[in-house]
Amino acid sequence: MKPQSFKNRDIHQIGDPVDSIQNVREHAYKELKATRDADSVRVLTTRYLGRKGILTKLLRSVSTLPPDQRATFGKEANALKGILEQMFKVALERFEHFAEKEEDWVDISLPGRVPAIGALHPLTQVMGEICDIFSKMGFDIAEGPEVETDYYNFEALNIPKDHPARDMQDTFYVSDNIVLRTHTSPVQIRTMKQQRPPVRVIVPGKVFRCDSDLTHTPMFHQVEGLLVDEGVSFGDLKGTLTVFVHQIFDEQTALRFRPSFFPFTEPSAEVDIACVMCRGAGCRVCSHTGWLEILGSGMVHPALFENVGYDPEQYTGFAFGMGVERIAMLKYGIDDIRKFFDNDARFLMQF
Ligand code: PHE
Repeated sequence: MKPQSFKNRDIHQIGDPVDSIQNVREHAYKELKATRDADSVRVLTTRYLGRKGILTKLLRSVSTLPPDQRATFGKEANALKGILEQMFKVALERFEHFAEKEEDWVDISLPGRVPAIGALHPLTQVMGEICDIFSKMGFDIAEGPEVETDYYNFEALNIPKDHPARDMQDTFYVSDNIVLRTHTSPVQIRTMKQQRPPVRVIVPGKVFRCDSDLTHTPMFHQVEGLLVDEGVSFGDLKGTLTVFVHQIFDEQTALRFRPSFFPFTEPSAEVDIACVMCRGAGCRVCSHTGWLEILGSGMVHPALFENVGYDPEQYTGFAFGMGVERIAMLKYGIDDIRKFFDNDARFLMQF
């Protein structure tokens, strides 16, 4: 017998009743297997078991058969009816159940989602490295407020009101006497007011200046250093900073002390390192000078000791302050300071 087409109307035309039941069964199974939701199962139930359904009609056709075939046919058709009723019911329940629970579904064959793991920001890393180097030399970590009084940020550091030296730093004023600290140097004063010499501290922190371009952001980071004791010399400053530069860059990095001015140190010096790009030969990064400025430093001005009640005849000390972004840019060859603050994970992940 040729394979039957399974449209509703065809099934009545099937001559052999056993064949018809067989066909309906196979076709129903196949269709049930193809269902993907509760609605398609409902459609199928009506199609086979409804009042005008395929199986219903087949059952009714029993009367058209020769009497000796009716019993077997009826039995088999009824058995199929029972099976289909059961199968459609179970299928419907499953789809309804899964639809409800869809959100809880876990496809255990999918590869897991690996969570993005955080890391320390490159500036935090470099700041940590700087502090580590000085910690090993015996410096303690000190901190101070980011919103600072005019007194600590300027006056106690030998920068009087209306003095031209104030122009060196573009200051954010909160009010007449309150500023966002423009450097970490106020922590020199805070530390000295709290303890007697010997003092040996390193101060990491955020500072603020009204400035913004390729190499300046309104907020940046500094690490301040202060050492006060009897008999501290400029040689101690040079030795300490030389060890530092050799550790943060490498032993081959040359450095020089260039005379400079800060109101809170005397004498003052800026420290340059041989350009990390051209090793001193001269290039675009070092403006063809071969040198890059990395920090300000000097011997603590006696006026500061007087402001904190130390005897300037008894004690001497040195101080320095460096920009963390500057060091990180040179260390990693970064040409735009703003990249540190764009929060672009593709940039930050490289460190
Ligand atoms: N505070 C100075 C600045 O921000 C740096 C400095 C610190 C210089 C300590 C000398 C001594 O420019």
